[in-house]
Amino acid sequence: MNTTTSRTAIEVSGLRKTYGKQVVLDGIGFEVQEGTVFSLLGPNGAGKTTTVQILTTLHAPDGGAASIMGHDTVREADAVRRTIGVTGQFSAVDTLLTGEENLQLMADLHHFDRKKGRRRVAELLEQFDLVDARKKPPAQYSGGMKRRLDLAMTLVAKPRVIFLDEPTTGLDPRSRRSMWQAIRELVDGGVTVFLTTQYLEEADQLADRIAVLNGGSIVAHGTSAELKQLIPGSHVRLHFADANELALAASAFRGSSRDDAGLTLSVPSDGSIGSLRTVLDRVEDSSIDAQQLTVHTPDLDDVFFALTGEAPAATGTTGMTDTTEKAATR
Ligand SMILES: Nc1ncnc2c1ncn2[C@@H]1O[C@H](COP(=O)(O)OP(=O)(O)O)[C@@H](O)[C@H]1O
Ligand SMILES: [Mg+2]
Repeated sequence: MNTTTSRTAIEVSGLRKTYGKQVVLDGIGFEVQEGTVFSLLGPNGAGKTTTVQILTTLHAPDGGAASIMGHDTVREADAVRRTIGVTGQFSAVDTLLTGEENLQLMADLHHFDRKKGRRRVAELLEQFDLVDARKKPPAQYSGGMKRRLDLAMTLVAKPRVIFLDEPTTGLDPRSRRSMWQAIRELVDGGVTVFLTTQYLEEADQLADRIAVLNGGSIVAHGTSAELKQLIPGSHVRLHFADANELALAASAFRGSSRDDAGLTLSVPSDGSIGSLRTVLDRVEDSSIDAQQLTVHTPDLDDVFFALTGEAPAATGTTGMTDTTEKAATR
């Protein structure tokens, strides 16, 4: 995160897009500060790719406006294209060329001279850990390597604003982490990142600000911490060996909610040391025989649930904590 600059890199207002009768974007707006990561979070079909296509000049909006580094995406599309890099949801890698040749091709497309082009290609192969694989065609690459090559190709001309459309969808957890690391390094270098994702954890990990897109509108907008504050629900959970102890504890903790089947008691708490101490002191003072204490802070999954009344469409592989726990409380 770059806190020294407050320049607006991306500005969007009242953006509308319809396909036939389907309103895909119903007037969305947001701003992204330079040098930060902005994440557009939404389930499959929410309109994330449509937004990226408009911001990257591939489609014109039906209403509203967008600008990148002060350039209007419709009236100054060429200037926008010179400023941005785009890694699409589906790979742009040519599988017949080697990894190195793919990068060289991008350097040629950007009219780099031979020497400068070679230097940039070598730099990127190094940066994205592709030196050993450079002579191989991407068909032989793992999913993670292909995505890294894709990202490297996006960066050949050192764009100041990059768009990553679901950069880690389908990757295994390890490759996902290595992409996250690569994205963080870009941001450290001052690049502005617009990232779409279906993964709550990904937005939580990477983004300075998050907008939740659902049903054509932005239903929530803020930092990860701000979104988490939208819903109450931080609590500590006490676990008991039998129903008697649970009943005792339930009478000692007013405002708590008990789960008789699970033999647990949920006590509201902000998760701070002070509040944990208060809970533990009361457990001790009341001679309650609690077996275990666990702390539960809401995550973005909870935010989505609170905002839309349903879980987002695709959270199967986000690695979010405690899904069984949630199933039990809902
Ligand atoms: N070119 C198109 N023609 C018609 N409908 C489209 C087109 N592109 C996207 N859509 C529709 O718009 C909605 C949003 O799509 P998309 O932006 O791809 O969502 P996401 O990237 O969030 O999964 C979907 O219902 C999709 O079917
Ligand atoms: Mg998409």
